[in-house]
Amino acid sequence: MKHPQRQHAIWGHRGTFILAATGSAVGLGNIWKFPYVAGENGGGAFVLLYLLGIVLVGVPIMVAEVLMGRRARANPIGAVGAVSAESGRSPLWSAIGWCGVITAFLILSYYSVVAGWTLEYVKAAVTGQFAGQSGEQAGAVFSALLADPYRLVLWQSVFIAMTAIVLAFGVTRGLETTVRVLMPLLFVLLLVMLGYAVQVGDFGAAVRFLFSFNVSDLSWAKASVALGHSFFTLSLAMGAIMAYGSYMPKRASIGKTVFAVAGLDTLVALVAGLAIFPIVFATAGIEPGEGPGLMYISLPVAFGSMPAGVLFGSVFFVLVTLAAWSSTISLLEPLVAYINERFGLARPLATLAIAFAAWLLGLGTVLSFNVWEGQQWLLGRNFFGLLDFFTINVMLPLGGLLMAIFVGWRVLPRYSRLELRQEPAWMYNAWLWALRYLAPPAVLVIMIASIYAELAP
Ligand code: PHE
Repeated sequence: MKHPQRQHAIWGHRGTFILAATGSAVGLGNIWKFPYVAGENGGGAFVLLYLLGIVLVGVPIMVAEVLMGRRARANPIGAVGAVSAESGRSPLWSAIGWCGVITAFLILSYYSVVAGWTLEYVKAAVTGQFAGQSGEQAGAVFSALLADPYRLVLWQSVFIAMTAIVLAFGVTRGLETTVRVLMPLLFVLLLVMLGYAVQVGDFGAAVRFLFSFNVSDLSWAKASVALGHSFFTLSLAMGAIMAYGSYMPKRASIGKTVFAVAGLDTLVALVAGLAIFPIVFATAGIEPGEGPGLMYISLPVAFGSMPAGVLFGSVFFVLVTLAAWSSTISLLEPLVAYINERFGLARPLATLAIAFAAWLLGLGTVLSFNVWEGQQWLLGRNFFGLLDFFTINVMLPLGGLLMAIFVGWRVLPRYSRLELRQEPAWMYNAWLWALRYLAPPAVLVIMIASIYAELAP
């Protein structure tokens, strides 16, 4: 096909896409969000729905997203438009790209606030503040942080600045080393935490909590949260994976790559859950349904009582920061690429403008944890609650649905087959089938049922 942007960069190495996409996928979603959302939703049933969401819906849509990016070699908005034109379809389909880029921007605004908490915890770990902390004390420390908007803004600003600096220089440099070296290290450290949790925590209770359930525990509301979270954790429907796919060399196999990324992402989430919950169950004062503070309260208790806890704690929070960093980079990239390619605005300027706007919007999230905490804006939620609900439960499933319909039904199979030519025929057919007949109805039913459950008195 004719490429709208001829000088679009390509990753230097075949493996970089896997690394970059894993860097995007593995982040706060796995280590912070998965355990707390699973905790709030009662464990097992939610975990099952989440795993089904990854395998049945997430993986096929991820393939579709990479395929569009690589086919068009352009920013997400340009890419969907180009792929659509190639198959003789309406330019209106680029709305998918818009939808994604806007959602990424909204998520970036609150993601950097939470990532900022991690920076505060790096400081606390290094200065030995966890030593001897009880569950109650750790909870009080966390509440005190959230109650202080100035500290939250400080860390949020530092984090957005860190992200903007990388983007201003371009994604290919810097990111590669970060993911190649640090992601494996993060994983090893999670295993260390897991080993510790097995030894001193209530591992049996954690396993029962995460992996057993009654059929009566299943609900549409849980299915909707689980589906939204599978999109979130795989970085789907936001243009991030499409943008990274657009830098992918033609000879790499999309199928294998996607399996690797989704597999690693799921593994990290499960190990994080298995490292956190044993401590939760063995510590007085921490509940599984604790909410956003779960990781920030349970892990300091563990670090505060383990040998060499200062060292492990410091390294752990530094690594979580880096994992979050490689995710925010991919949240900002699609919009920067778009503005840069579409309007010819220099990368550093485009980055600065968008980072500033995300920072400004992020102030709403900062205030949601203190000054605005009790305010109900809509549906009984405050600013952050609403933003979180709208992006995760509405925008992501909607974007995924449109992508599945577009690539499954509107892109001519001869083009999708061409991008997936490394895959055996049965795999291509299974993928197309899932994209056509499985993903759209599943997403649609869950969305409608959960909106109904939300609005019903
Ligand atoms: N997948 C990331 C996480 O789990 C979040 C993210 C979403 C990053 C979308 C980029 C794009 O933390």
